[in-house]
This record gives sequence, structure tokens and C-alpha cells, in this order.
Amino acid sequence: MRASAIAHPNVALIKYWGKADVAANLPAVGSLSVTLGALCTETTVEFDAGLKRDTLVLDGREAPGEHGRLTACMEALRALAGHTGYAAVTSGNDFPTGAGLASSASGYAALVTAAAAALGIDPHDPRLIDIARIGSGSAPRSLFGGIVLLTVAAGGTVCRPLLAPAEWPLAVAVAVTTEGPKAVTSRDGMEQSRLTSPFYSAWIADHANDLDAAVRCVGDRDFFALAALAEYNCLKMHSVMLTTRPALMYWSPVTLACMQRVAALRADGVPVFFTVDAGPQVKAVCLPEALAEVVGALHDVPGVVRVIAGELGAGARVAPC
Ligand code: PMV
Repeated sequence: MRASAIAHPNVALIKYWGKADVAANLPAVGSLSVTLGALCTETTVEFDAGLKRDTLVLDGREAPGEHGRLTACMEALRALAGHTGYAAVTSGNDFPTGAGLASSASGYAALVTAAAAALGIDPHDPRLIDIARIGSGSAPRSLFGGIVLLTVAAGGTVCRPLLAPAEWPLAVAVAVTTEGPKAVTSRDGMEQSRLTSPFYSAWIADHANDLDAAVRCVGDRDFFALAALAEYNCLKMHSVMLTTRPALMYWSPVTLACMQRVAALRADGVPVFFTVDAGPQVKAVCLPEALAEVVGALHDVPGVVRVIAGELGAGARVAPC
């Protein structure tokens, strides 16, 4: 009863920020993402009759803060398989954890895929979508590759790929501006926004328009229309964050400098746009022919620690132990 899986983080072009149901970790809105092939999480799950609880070693260290989310996911998996034993989980990221690079998305996608395989459940069973979501609202998107749509319906999440990586080859350059963990987690931050930001209700009310328009841009392979929409949606989410009490300021001056650099490139006709999540890193999405120029430009922004670049990745999959 042991299996390993790998999964890639994803970055949302149309974001979710806020829960419809906090206890169930159900997002208030849908989202659209790209899976980042350049970053990777590998997770091994081993059920062991001798264990009295699930355990987690993350990047070589015990991670007690993750225990609540981990146990909730594992309970759902055990119920699905009709199994009662606990498991030892070992997970590692080849990128900074908890720093706005969606390590929870790839982490929970890899966890449910490995645990399902260890329990004899088909790792592509659609019920794993809602189980991954218990761990992180963005994790179902990392179960799939390419461009992925997540929608919320009937108290659950539905998630599916819109285009495989080869159907619209895009590339992503991630400007890492700091490797440290973020001060306020997404989960806490979005709940504070729901409770205190006067912009939150407008964000929710307007969101379906952005998502529908983005799905059309993807269908049309209209890069520049998607670029304008993704930056608009990103900045709208950050305006909700900034008007939260206390304010959620996830950007650093380097974040802003990278965003301005990307905007300047696009003004010069380079097919690239930025997006930023709950952290100071900047993700620049571009057409593959622009990747070298985008990487070079971000690298030259003072304060950028490193730039990680690659094409869109595949969905979570079982890997050899
Ligand atoms: O549910 P979480 O913790 O993965 O929250 C994700 C929040 C954002 O990254 C800011 C937006 C998104 O849709 O990925």
C-alpha cells in the first residue's frame, strides 16, 4: 500500500479569492489556470498498520501546521476506499514552499493521486477532484495539464482541461523575488477579505463575466485578449486584498517593478502578460517565441532572485516509487 505521484503547481489567469463554504473549503467562484511544467512536487504515501495517525514530512521536515488539511483529505480518501489505516506521507518541492508559488495546489494534487493509487482507487476517479479541493481550493486544477477550468456547482467543484499543452503552447516565466514564506496564508487572507473588504461583493458579482470571457479567449486562442483580461482580473483580486482590514499587501517593490517590465514589453508588442497570486512572485505568461526575451527582461529587474521558466505541464500522475 505504497505509491508515489508527481504534480505541477498551477497559476490562475482568472483567480478565485473567497469561499462559499469555509468548512468545506468550497470556492465562492470558478477559476481558470495554466499548469506550470517547470515546477514539481513529488509525494509518497505509505499506509502502515503500525501508525496511530497520519504523518507528514514536507521538504525534509515534519509539518504539524499542515496536519488539519492533510487529515481531512486522508479521511475522505479512506472513506472512498473503505480503509481504516493511517499513512506516512513524504513530500518535496523543487521550488520554495508557501511563497506564492502554489505549493499547496501541487502538494494536494500529488497527495490524492498517490494516496488513491496506494488504496487501489483509480487515480483519475473524478471524485478525487472534490477531495483535492478539501486540501486547497486550487489543487483540483493541478490534477490536469494545460489550460484548466474549475467551476463550482451543486456544492462541489467540477474541473476539466480546456486545452492540452500541445493544443495552445504557452510558456511561463516565474520571477522569484523572495524565497521566504508569505505572512498571511491564502486561506486566512481570503476569509478576512470576505469579512472586511467593501470590494469583495463586487469581485464576486462580476467574476462570472471574466471567467466566461476568458474561456472564449482560450477557445479563440486570442492571446492579447486573454492578456488584458488576466491582468485586469489579477489587479481586481489585489484591490480586494488591499482593501481588506488589516490590508493584505502581498507585493514587494520588486513585484511591482516586474509587473511594469512585463507591461512595457507588451506595449512594445511582445506577447506576454503578468499575473500575481498571494505572494510577491510574478508569473509572466507568454508565447514560446517570446520566452527568452521575457526571461532576460525579468532577470535584469533589480531584486529578482531567479527566474524559473518552462512550458505548460501535464496533470498529476503516478510515478515510480
Ligand atoms: O486555495 P488556495 O490556498 O490554493 O488559494 C489560491 C488563491 C490564489 O492563488 C490567490 C488564486 C487562485 O485562484 O489560485
